[in-house]
Amino acid sequence: MPSGMRSHSLSIYSLISHVVRSYMVCSDSLRSCSCVLVAVSLWLCASPWVMPAQAQGPSYEMGRAPTDEEMRRLGSSISPDGEGLPAGSGTSAKGVELYARRCAGCHGAKLEGTKNAPSLAGGKGSIGTAQPDRTIGSFWPFAPPIWDYVKRAMPPGAGGSLTDDEAYSLTAFILHRNDLIPENEVIDAKSLSKVKMPNRDGFFPAKLDDINKQRCRVGTCK
Ligand code: HEC
Repeated sequence: MPSGMRSHSLSIYSLISHVVRSYMVCSDSLRSCSCVLVAVSLWLCASPWVMPAQAQGPSYEMGRAPTDEEMRRLGSSISPDGEGLPAGSGTSAKGVELYARRCAGCHGAKLEGTKNAPSLAGGKGSIGTAQPDRTIGSFWPFAPPIWDYVKRAMPPGAGGSLTDDEAYSLTAFILHRNDLIPENEVIDAKSLSKVKMPNRDGFFPAKLDDINKQRCRVGTCK
């Protein structure tokens, strides 16, 4: 049995036995009950059987720690304002061939989407209507997360396989096909952060009071 599991079941056993003991004393008098409960709580906090399970978590003896290289490829943290974007650059023109080779099979040659993947362009002006078409161009409020998403997750199963420059070129390609930048604009950390997405001001904090008043569920409120 893995060591983590053993310490876990021991701590549950000790917890049950002490609850039973404290219940037996409880039936004698109320005062001794509270004394024993306090003592048991203190004992549990100090117990070496409980502490390792809580402090370290169970060990399932599976998997391994990620390598530095894996963390570099997949563990990036890019904020909406572009902080954390790496060096490098790309243009839509450079992304054309790459998109056709590695993305169009799922997202469609014209970014129109297929049954396997959502569209990446279009939907202009549809947000706020009864039938919103949520694409990067119509819906996403910030541009830097496009780079982050493409780099980290696309193509599915091979996330992190694109170079930083390739991810910049594909981001530029998607932005260009949404009429948001010219074909030859160089997209890098600085210029990507400056792209203002059409739906930037379309998000606002939910007013929970209003939602509760209307008693409606997410997605069905008017
Ligand atoms: C095997 C099919 C497949 C391929 C190839 C693929 N994608 Fe995707 N892509 C998907 C699916 C499925 C989703 C939706 C994932 C989800 O919502 O959880 C997606 C989502 C996305 C999104 C987010 C869209 C949105 O509005 O939420 C972007 C951006 C994207 N893909 C870009 C790319 C790029 C760039 C490539 C080429 C490097 C690519 N994808 C290749 C299947 C694919």
